[in-house]
Amino acid sequence: MKAENGAKGKDRNSFLTDIREIRRRARQHIEDGAVTDSYKGDRKTVLRVLNEALATEIVCVLRYKRHHYMAKGIHSQAVAEEFLEHAAEEQEHADLIAERITQLDGEPNFNPEGLLTRSHSEYVEGESLVDMIKEDLVAERIAVESYSEIIRYLADNDPTSRRMMESILAKEEEHAEDMKTLLETIAREEEREDRAKAS
Ligand SMILES: [Fe+2]
Ligand SMILES: [Fe+2]
Repeated sequence: MKAENGAKGKDRNSFLTDIREIRRRARQHIEDGAVTDSYKGDRKTVLRVLNEALATEIVCVLRYKRHHYMAKGIHSQAVAEEFLEHAAEEQEHADLIAERITQLDGEPNFNPEGLLTRSHSEYVEGESLVDMIKEDLVAERIAVESYSEIIRYLADNDPTSRRMMESILAKEEEHAEDMKTLLETIAREEEREDRAKAS
């Protein structure tokens, strides 16, 4: 009984020491904010990669906004609304990433200069509605691929950034699916119109 108590006491003590040590380390680098000694990531690389993801999101916001305002034609209304919805969601992603960058003591890069070089996705205006949707689908597929790569890189080194990127990735996959569905719907409707015209 005594021995058991002793063991428990010892465990408790070592647990306390651990807590004290954790607190000491936390205080020591208080200016580092969310970055503690247990942070295993290569902060410089993580910040660079997150700033690239931020640029990607900003370019996506701009492209979807352009497409929203330029969407014209018989099928344009529902599509234009979808573009606007995506623009708002890309903006949310940009905000999440910028916030995480500051948590890691970095600076979110909002500089328009070099934005397209930092971004993984492209800004293509597209002529017709179908062109626009195709360009958005391409951009989403690029985001899906590069974010998957980023998630693999972050792995266990920065689980918080990884989880954030995983939730963003899930949304980009939804976006890609939305664009694919729009293309299929327009193709079906056009076919129906052609048949109606021919008869
Ligand atoms: Fe996004
Ligand atoms: Fe997206």
